Amino acid sequence: MSREEKLARLAAKREKVLKGGGDSKTEKQHKEGKLTARERIHKLLDQGSFVELDQFVVHRGIEFGMQDVDAPGEGVVTGYGTIDGRLVYLFSQDFTVLGGSLGEMHAAKICKVMDLAVKMGAPFIGINDSGGARIQEGIDALNGYGKIFKQNTFASGVIPQISVIMGPCAGGAVYSPALTDFIFMVNRIGQMYITGPQVIKAVTGEEVSAEDLGGAMTHNQVSGNAHFFATDEEECMNQIKRLLSFLPSHNLDSLSVWESNDPVDRMDEMLQTVVPDDPNKAYNMGDVITALADNREFFEIQPHFAQNIIIGFLRLHGMPVGVIANQPKVMAGCLDINCSDKASRFIRFCDAFGIPLLTIVDTPGYLPGVGQEHGGIIRHGAKLLYAYSEATVPKIQLITRKAYGGAYLAMCAKSLGADMAIAWPSAQIAVMGAQGAANIVFRKEIEGAENPQEKRKEKIADYEERFSHPYCAAARGFADLVIEPERTRYYLIKSLESLVTKRESRPGKKHGNIPV
Ligand code: HXC
Repeated sequence: MSREEKLARLAAKREKVLKGGGDSKTEKQHKEGKLTARERIHKLLDQGSFVELDQFVVHRGIEFGMQDVDAPGEGVVTGYGTIDGRLVYLFSQDFTVLGGSLGEMHAAKICKVMDLAVKMGAPFIGINDSGGARIQEGIDALNGYGKIFKQNTFASGVIPQISVIMGPCAGGAVYSPALTDFIFMVNRIGQMYITGPQVIKAVTGEEVSAEDLGGAMTHNQVSGNAHFFATDEEECMNQIKRLLSFLPSHNLDSLSVWESNDPVDRMDEMLQTVVPDDPNKAYNMGDVITALADNREFFEIQPHFAQNIIIGFLRLHGMPVGVIANQPKVMAGCLDINCSDKASRFIRFCDAFGIPLLTIVDTPGYLPGVGQEHGGIIRHGAKLLYAYSEATVPKIQLITRKAYGGAYLAMCAKSLGADMAIAWPSAQIAVMGAQGAANIVFRKEIEGAENPQEKRKEKIADYEERFSHPYCAAARGFADLVIEPERTRYYLIKSLESLVTKRESRPGKKHGNIPV
């Protein structure tokens, strides 16, 4: 073969791969409002940065006539490139080729890029659009999934792993995303479920649409499996880029600290009045968070799920910080099963990647109820205690109002290792609220009084005077600072600056046993 012929052969082979499943399949993909696997990669990565690997990998299936089936690129596009100049590795399943189904060699391509991502210390992104295990390849396909799950697990806590659901993701295939750190879903395109609507109908008789069962909003709002909801693919890509901007590339990387022109001592008058005098009145913790953040920018994670707790990233004087905050506007900011799961997973992510934690507290306690108790609030709530106690990153606690009982401890109290506990004058750090406490401690006295109503009021006022403030905690050193609310940003940044060199070790062990 001449040199020209060899080059022509390469060009022809490449052209075939780049066409994926062909024009009609591509057209179908577009009609459904979906980009193709390669279009997605090019949209996500910096222009011209993508290097595709393993274009010419072929499957080894022989059953059901597979020996005659051509599967360009093996139904998945893999490689590396940059996002805002930072190296990332990724795969993007090609639904136009055998429905993006995963066979032995498809899995091998994914495992190779995952392996490279870990070795290079670069974030890994998986774009899922697949009919699941390639049925014709049987056990080889299952083995491929098993290898991916193992590598996801090995990479956990080493590099950030992001899953993007831009098509079907069914059966055991959902477990790779579930093992990663963040799941993005696109509305009306992404679907995840273990068993689909037909199987559910056959087994339990329940009727449900695929969208209601495992669509983007279902997983963002109801199950909590997903972290981000996007109305279309473009919005999803922008969300991924924004998330990455807060993250280091790997667990030993330093954080990307930006230049900030937002003054360190910027005071926000609104903070003086944001907490209502009436302890039963709600306010929006989101307003407090944005008032503190550089340029008032807060990137919320899982905004639709367990809204009684807020999690997300902001920057303080350019330094990325993970925020966990009670939301008094939703269920009075009580802690429950879902919010404990949501927050503890986030705390562990931040700790694994060296991101400091800011915990903002206004919670009256754990949510009472048979459903919560029988649902395992003891086990789920313990995750929060575990995650905070285990975390060695800088931990700052800010108490704006209620910090009662076990919930006070669970929100990163000094005893769980907060490096800096800051309280506003409106903080009430106590075993419980005044009304509940008076009813228990002074029950006999109240019942025996001539005017029980009056007596009760008197006892509540007495309790409030003694305990409903930050000064008992401050007297024991459980609140390091009591500050004017409008000066919070200044003190947070000063605290953070003093904590950047923090080093703390734990007893050596194989691993702990978080109550999962
Ligand atoms: C082989 C598959 C496939 C699969 C789809 N295709 N899924 N080929 N193995 N798992 C092929 C179809 O035959 C079709 O080929 C092409 O992909 C497009 O599929 P359509 O059905 O035409 O597309 P659509 O109507 O959009 O429906 C998409 C779908 C449906 C909902 C995903 O294809 C589907 O239900 N597929 C099977 C899903 C499933 O049960 N997977 C196995 C799950 S078990 P042609 O040639 O006609 O274009 C599993 C175990 C993992 O994944 C275990 C891990 C622990």
